[in-house]
Amino acid sequence: MRNQFAVIGHPIEQSRSPELHHAFAQKTGIDLNYVKRFAELDEFEQSVSEFFTQGGKGMNVTVPFKERAYAMCQVLTERAKIAKAVNTLWMHEGQLYGDNTDGQGLVEAIQALDWQLKNSSVLIIGAGGATRGVIYPLSKAGVRKIVIANRTLSRAEQLVKDLKPAIPQSELTAMQLEDLSGDFDFVINATSASLTGDALLLPETLNFKYAYEMAYGKPSSFLEQAKARGVETSEGYGMLVGQAIESFSIWNGVKPDLKDFL
Ligand code: ATR
Repeated sequence: MRNQFAVIGHPIEQSRSPELHHAFAQKTGIDLNYVKRFAELDEFEQSVSEFFTQGGKGMNVTVPFKERAYAMCQVLTERAKIAKAVNTLWMHEGQLYGDNTDGQGLVEAIQALDWQLKNSSVLIIGAGGATRGVIYPLSKAGVRKIVIANRTLSRAEQLVKDLKPAIPQSELTAMQLEDLSGDFDFVINATSASLTGDALLLPETLNFKYAYEMAYGKPSSFLEQAKARGVETSEGYGMLVGQAIESFSIWNGVKPDLKDFL
């Protein structure tokens, strides 16, 4: 039987993971089957267990189950522990392993654009799970300074407190979204504003060279404002491909080249 993979979520129809993993498989000559798996909200753990009991090789986890996947794992990678969320599962010697490839996906998407992360300063807007997942990989990629700006300042402050010990080589501070100003190399939108259609206002006192919108396929007031300033911009498709490639390489031991799939 071909190696079986799945992405589990609620909803799941929108997922692009099967087509990406099949494209990687074709490029690398690996024979696999990758399907979407819907789980009722109270059946996630049972569905994961069933999948692996039936010989499933690897599973991606998407909204809203990443924290529950984290809680299920017996063994976690460093970056999954720090993210407190898991998007990649596999079994090894009877134990459930979990990793989080979202942050590395962002780093590789940015590198594929030839935007320089080393010694850069990064402003991340938003202080939810998406932000939590990318701070450690950004720091590992050499980012010197990270500022988290959030509408609710206390949430950004809590994130800084939690994550500071994990990234001693980078500066990490919090800022109130209304006070947004200063000079940065990158601004990354990690809020859910584009998903809900809300506008984010980037004031004139905020200067930056590159803008990355983590969402993709939705109108983004963040990207519109960045484009109007003439800076380089990207939306989150590269990050989506990047996290998928990282999961694929964990499971299959071969890493496709991101640039072949953008
Ligand atoms: P995720 O796990 O995707 O990061 P989340 O935990 O719900 O989702 O976090 C959403 C983030 O988007 C939060 O930082 C939220 O700000 P608050 O902490 O103040 O709620 C931010 N966000 C959502 N809508 C926003 C808007 N219209 N303007 C500014 N920030 C917004």
